[in-house]
Amino acid sequence: MDQLGGLKTTFSWDKNRDHEWFLKSHEARKGTVVPLEKVNQVKKKRQKERTSGVPATCVVGLQWGDEAKGKIVDLLTGEHDIVVRYQGGANAGHTVVLGGEPFKLSLVPSGIFRPQVQCVIANGVVLHPGALLEEIERLRARGVQVENNLLVSNRAHVIFPWHIEEDRLLEKAAGGEAIGTTLRGIGPCYRDKVGRTLAFRVGDLYRQNFRDRVREAAQFKQRLLQCLSGEQITLDAEAIYEEYRQYAERLQRWVGDSTAYLLDAVEAEKRILFEGAQGALLDVDHGTFPYVTSSNSSGVGVSSGSGVPARYLTKVIGIIKAYSTRVGGGPFPTEQANEIGQYIRDRGNEYGTVTRRPRRCGWFDAVAVRYTARLSGVDVLAVMLLDVLSGLDEVKICVGYELDGQRTTNFPAHVDELWRVQPVYETWAGWKEDISQARRWEDLPAAAQAYLRRISQLIGRPLEIISVGPDREQTIFVQGPIF
Ligand code: GDP
Ligand code: IMO
Ligand code: MG
Repeated sequence: MDQLGGLKTTFSWDKNRDHEWFLKSHEARKGTVVPLEKVNQVKKKRQKERTSGVPATCVVGLQWGDEAKGKIVDLLTGEHDIVVRYQGGANAGHTVVLGGEPFKLSLVPSGIFRPQVQCVIANGVVLHPGALLEEIERLRARGVQVENNLLVSNRAHVIFPWHIEEDRLLEKAAGGEAIGTTLRGIGPCYRDKVGRTLAFRVGDLYRQNFRDRVREAAQFKQRLLQCLSGEQITLDAEAIYEEYRQYAERLQRWVGDSTAYLLDAVEAEKRILFEGAQGALLDVDHGTFPYVTSSNSSGVGVSSGSGVPARYLTKVIGIIKAYSTRVGGGPFPTEQANEIGQYIRDRGNEYGTVTRRPRRCGWFDAVAVRYTARLSGVDVLAVMLLDVLSGLDEVKICVGYELDGQRTTNFPAHVDELWRVQPVYETWAGWKEDISQARRWEDLPAAAQAYLRRISQLIGRPLEIISVGPDREQTIFVQGPIF
């Protein structure tokens, strides 16, 4: 039984509404182009060819984050035993809407709403223990079970107050060049992880020398923060130690060796779902550097962030919005800082989940997404928020860039080039219909179908899921080819 069934909200969980139900009901509705059995046969064959047969799926954002990964992870959780967050931290804001009620998650995996599923916060995540405990309490207060169904890696790195202060001071100093971070201390914490000396992992909170190490780190960080701010800053090491000692005590029941757990799980052929945070264009190695986050947020981060070898991944689902958004600074070739952008922002409620900043909005960029889909090893696409585009006379897709007079479909490595590119657009007819009630491919207006087909063609990946609203049931599972 779904745990939310017991909640005193208007929402009552109907187990028939899960993913399998969608598939079965779709099968029952005839008129699909290719029989489901055939699609499944092909899928199985492909999975067998690629891997050892252990079903492990990854959900990864292919743009600049907020592609609605949370909705898809929640939907697919019913078919998995374990859901794993493997990078990022409380910079992420994933929304799951259950019966019209939004749940916002930052660190806890979006699988948490099904208590039979084990949620894992793996080694690649950076976490503020206070933020995690607060999130757990918030979920529990709304009737969500967070007991032994959560495991927190003892290898995950810990965010301290000095990381948050450093983030703030560096952003302030950068002025117009600021990254526009979420100010959650993400970058400074990853920097310390890579720098190795002043870093703390969750397991370190329980070691004898923890107090001494906090004193040592606080002394050094106090000097650093003073240099950065030019002001007298005092870090009270004893107070920080006491605060984190208390966090550690409250967190202890969830802490364990997630790497060992996941390695056992793949051998036991458990079905694992990896939940990416951010999006591939924010990947520290492959994104729009330096306007990125500090982790590998494309598909390449799964293995280092979880300890599960990449060869076990059987399926990568690339999540895209039907348009583009970006929060914070950095180049955004298809940005529409005009009434089109405002139309999308209003209809899509495009305001940051974490910081409430208005998101920058623009047309779909097939050059960028083709690049990130290939980089992340994407098998299929989920196109989200298609309903937002309803009502426009025409919709545009960026199919190439003009860079210094040359046309290209390559995504430039340097941010200076990306600032300079001029998008080359294809214009497609828009549609006026409200599509939020569409549940089958056939329910979509012909113009929306044509737009989706073109996106799929340009990215070179099939569409598997189309989302027409935030709720679980506002989803179309595409069966078979749509060309
Ligand atoms: P994430 O960070 O990738 O999980 O995405 P966010 O939760 O930050 O942002 C996605 C927003 O879109 C959330 O408010 C979702 O509830 C909402 N959403 C998800 N799918 C759809 C959809 O198909 N249509 C509309 N209109 N909203 C959606
Ligand atoms: P989800 O998981 C959108 C952006 C910030 C900033 C840059 C660096 O909800 O998709 P950071 O605080 O990570 O150092 O900020 O990355 N950013 C996100 N944008 N969605 C996110 O997460 C983001 N996480 C970070 O706005 O531009
Ligand atoms: Mg988000």
